[in-house]
Amino acid sequence: MAFEKDLYAFAQTQDFPVHMGGNAYVRLLYFLARYLQPETVVETGVSIGYSSQAILSALAMNGKGQLYSSELQYLHDNQSHKYIGLLVSPEFRDRWTLLTEGDRINLAQIAQRVGRINLFHYDSDKSISGRVFACNIALERMSKGDVLVLDDVNDNDHLLSLSNQIGRAPTVFTTKYKSIGLFMM
Ligand SMILES: C[S@@+](CC[C@H](N)C(=O)[O-])C[C@H]1O[C@@H](n2cnc3c(N)ncnc32)[C@H](O)[C@@H]1O
Repeated sequence: MAFEKDLYAFAQTQDFPVHMGGNAYVRLLYFLARYLQPETVVETGVSIGYSSQAILSALAMNGKGQLYSSELQYLHDNQSHKYIGLLVSPEFRDRWTLLTEGDRINLAQIAQRVGRINLFHYDSDKSISGRVFACNIALERMSKGDVLVLDDVNDNDHLLSLSNQIGRAPTVFTTKYKSIGLFMM
């Protein structure tokens, strides 16, 4: 929670002129990336980088691990590459691979590069088809003890169908603004 407070305070000092989408449940991601001590983390949806900074800060504290992030170059703003991941500290970038061609292309490339995914965070295309595509790629590479987190699960009933697909119940965190679903494999 202290980490989250500092990150929000830092974000207040930054200037980002385009709307980039709301931030993830930062304290949960930071906690999980510390607790799981992951070798490989994959996330979708970077925006200005709250979630990326949370995960990369934890990996730096752990002294190990790589983060692969999937974003989509903003079609309405050809300067968006300047803002994507703005909050990520320069010293953390050696653990970070950022791809910006959209989940369909990015996740296929990431899947070829990684073996097992220890922590997967989904926070990009909120449609059911987008969620299904990404989760199927992730699940093929997840094993016992790995954790899958989905943001904005209150948008549709994907969480329920995923729960049925994998045969386990999610843990759901509800904040003032949204709900976040978590499965531990
Ligand atoms: C809610 S924001 C992500 C917030 C980020 N996780 C954070 O904590 O700061 C959602 C992001 O998903 C991206 N996005 C939407 N559709 C996408 C797609 N098909 N592939 C990759 N990224 C996508 C948007 O460009 C946007 O930046």
